[in-house]
Amino acid sequence: MLLKRDLGGALTIGLGIATVAAKSVHGLTCYCEHQCPGGQTNGTCVTSRYSQCFSSVREEINDETGEYEATVSYGCLAAGEQGFLQCKGGNSLSGLAIQCCNSDMCNKDLKPMYIPHSTTTVPPKVHNNSVPYIAFLLSLVICLLVSAIIIGWIYLRYRRKEKNRLYALTSTESYISGTSNLLQTLIGHSSGSGSGIPLLVQRTIAKQIRIERQIGEGRFGKVCLANWRGEHVAVKVFTTINDQSWLRETEIYQTVLLRHENILGFIAADLKVSAGGAQMMLITEYHKRGSLYDFLKENTIDTTQLVVMARSIASGLAHLHEPINGTHGKPCIAHRDIKSRNILVKTNGECCIADFALAVRYDSRRNEIDIAPNLRVGTRRYMAPEVVNDTIDVTSFSSFKSADMYSASLVFWELCRRSRQSWPVGGSPMLQADEYMLPYANLVGSDPSVEDMRVVLIIQGARPDIPIRWKCDNRLRVISEIIQFCWHQNPNVRLAALRVMKTLRKLEDSETLENGIHHV
Ligand SMILES: Nc1ncnc2c1ncn2[C@@H]1O[C@H](COP(=O)(O)OP(=O)(O)OP(=O)(O)O)[C@@H](O)[C@H]1O
Ligand SMILES: [Mg+2]
Repeated sequence: MLLKRDLGGALTIGLGIATVAAKSVHGLTCYCEHQCPGGQTNGTCVTSRYSQCFSSVREEINDETGEYEATVSYGCLAAGEQGFLQCKGGNSLSGLAIQCCNSDMCNKDLKPMYIPHSTTTVPPKVHNNSVPYIAFLLSLVICLLVSAIIIGWIYLRYRRKEKNRLYALTSTESYISGTSNLLQTLIGHSSGSGSGIPLLVQRTIAKQIRIERQIGEGRFGKVCLANWRGEHVAVKVFTTINDQSWLRETEIYQTVLLRHENILGFIAADLKVSAGGAQMMLITEYHKRGSLYDFLKENTIDTTQLVVMARSIASGLAHLHEPINGTHGKPCIAHRDIKSRNILVKTNGECCIADFALAVRYDSRRNEIDIAPNLRVGTRRYMAPEVVNDTIDVTSFSSFKSADMYSASLVFWELCRRSRQSWPVGGSPMLQADEYMLPYANLVGSDPSVEDMRVVLIIQGARPDIPIRWKCDNRLRVISEIIQFCWHQNPNVRLAALRVMKTLRKLEDSETLENGIHHV
């Protein structure tokens, strides 16, 4: 490009020199056009002595059309080498050609051949001042992008905040704004998800309860009756040293799908840390009839009630023991402290199981128990022989379930003793029930040691008495058969909770069941 321009410039200069020289020295007369002396458009010129005529073609861009256009010029060539060289060199360039000749007016008919430019498109003009313009555009785009990102980020944050606020509102105020049966609504809401009331609501409830009075005291703390928005709840307040029991019980109650009509309804757990130390609370449904132990001491039951109570205990235990499979399934749970004090009596006559501080969960997929089970836990009076004797097979989770079934059999025995049975006294039938009695109360003291229990269970092989009269009532007979299976020395002989539940449900449904457990 640069070469062409230089050559073009050189041609013009060269031809200019030739026209000036023609005036002083005679040579050839040539036709001239565009290159005439004296500024004429066309005419003739005279070369210097040894020079030549020429005809040249040059392609130039027409600014209006943007196309290349060829302009043909005629004239006299400048003298000397330069002119000859021009005559030879220009023809190899595109858009430019020159042809020379040596006789008067010979150039008029010359048509120099040239290589036309391959494209008629005008090469883009390069603006030397476009760099700051591009820089300005670039920075504008970057600024816009950065602003868009910042605005987007602020908007997302705002949306997240708003969402959290709405969630907090719906999970507290909407739950808490109702007046009637609010707890049932709460529990209903949570049972769908299976993992309990949202923690935020639990905290709110814990803050809002008003303690009314103490209703009981156990190994881990005291139990109080409390009021929450007009409804009664039970609050178990754990002493500081029993923080592990609170933690464990809270964990178990939050087990997915634990909720069941025969498991004490968990409402909330809360931990308050103050200058005086930590206060751990467990809020559950309140059952005004109290524990089965309290109830049986004061009341007798008929055999229909007996079956309902025994069946509901077996139902609660079966729900605990059995896994629920699925992505959000329920693990097997063993209670490890089944006794009449840890079972509550509901107003509909059924029972529910409470106190999960010693419970263990079994993860069947990983084949492991969720905490290292402390072997000799529970209430010594209700301990299974293999627990007392330390021979329990801890490698198998079913051992813990069998130990629960042993304890449950003692609870069933307590129930049977308090059930009223028609029995002839002095020739006429009378409704009779035995006095309330703790299992083995005739064999050990009020707070038996493990050794006391070992002597009774292992050395003497003793079990509570089964009165003959129980065999004369169908329901009592079936239940006493269950009891004897369940307190068997060999854990493998004991019945599973599910089996017991099914048997008792049939007994409940059929008033005239004549056959015992073997026919179920
Ligand atoms: N949800 C409840 N509703 C009504 N009464 C309850 C409730 N929970 C506990 N109680 C009463 O409080 C008493 C004390 O319960 P707690 O579980 O603290 O001790 P315990 O079961 O008697 O003994 P342990 O500490 O060995 O379990 C119970 O016996 C029962 O009478
Ligand atoms: Mg208890």
